[in-house]
Amino acid sequence: MANERYHRPVMVHEVVSHLVRGAGVYVDGTLGGGGHSLAILQALWDKGWEKDSFLIGIDQDRFAISEAETILAAFRERSRLVQGNFRDIAGIVGGIREREMPGMAVAGILLDLGVSSSQIDTPERGFSYLRSGPLDMRMEPDGGQSASDIVNIWDEGALADIFFRFGEEKKSRQIAGAVCSWRKQQGYITGTQELAAIVRSVVKNPDQQIKSLSRVFQALRIAVNDELGALGAVLEDGTGCLGPLGRMAVISYHSLEDRMVKQFFGKLAADDWGPKGVGLREPLRRAAFRLVTRRPVVAGEDEVGKNPRARSAKLRVIEKKGYPGGQSERNC
Ligand SMILES: C[S@@+](CC[C@H](N)C(=O)[O-])C[C@H]1O[C@@H](n2cnc3c(N)ncnc32)[C@H](O)[C@@H]1O
Repeated sequence: MANERYHRPVMVHEVVSHLVRGAGVYVDGTLGGGGHSLAILQALWDKGWEKDSFLIGIDQDRFAISEAETILAAFRERSRLVQGNFRDIAGIVGGIREREMPGMAVAGILLDLGVSSSQIDTPERGFSYLRSGPLDMRMEPDGGQSASDIVNIWDEGALADIFFRFGEEKKSRQIAGAVCSWRKQQGYITGTQELAAIVRSVVKNPDQQIKSLSRVFQALRIAVNDELGALGAVLEDGTGCLGPLGRMAVISYHSLEDRMVKQFFGKLAADDWGPKGVGLREPLRRAAFRLVTRRPVVAGEDEVGKNPRARSAKLRVIEKKGYPGGQSERNC
């Protein structure tokens, strides 16, 4: 049983059926409470593939690692859990593979993006405008700049830019202006409720307020954790790690992430026909990947009814084409 007190994983059945298709190394780049990892390991055992399989779980949050260690205790012999950033997937997976299972190809990589319920619901982590706490938002609790650093130090233009680009907030300039006025008049902004009050001072309509609060908090979270930078890196290096017929499955929760995944997968799965108008009979290069999901898989009504978080989830899957020989590719 997954630890649903910590986090209820979304589309578990869909993830397992699209990802677990043979023995090999499985990488869960967003371990969280270990719910998806547990389902992957159980599926490998059910199919009798456990002797030739191994799971590497990565999360930048040390609290997630200790939570998952308990949930996955029965599989300790066939798994390794690492605190780290999935942008470093090549180094992390390469190092463990070399020591623990040289020659075993990477069969599957899962990324279930964003934050866990535990992170959002813990007031001290500062992710939610609904909870009073320090304005922190770091998924890696011991490093890097916090949301408070950003709102107190960045200039008005840079703040407006992230509210607009990462939150798609229409009143980004006015909100950035209000942040800077608050700084001048009242000093440091240290808590979630101060930032919420600033947003409410600009957006007066109660329905709009909720949307703007969500967008501004999302924008700051993305900036604090460089979420899009990390996603770009893991898409590139992760797909480079896959062995023949290996798959990458990504669950995203907002349009910025989903667009990146869709475009990246689309490019990988397209043959190269050279410059437009050349009219070649054969492509210059055949794509090394194929799209498993042409449209994103979404959660069923039943799941959405039980887990509102599933409503915005989109699952996309890509597969590395097979070729004889079969080791993992260049990166790992
Ligand atoms: C939606 S939760 C994953 C939940 C997990 N699938 C489960 O079954 O419990 C996302 C997790 O990914 C982690 N995370 C997000 N971005 C990361 C990154 N760049 N590197 C490593 N971990 C990351 C977060 O700390 C969080 O624990």
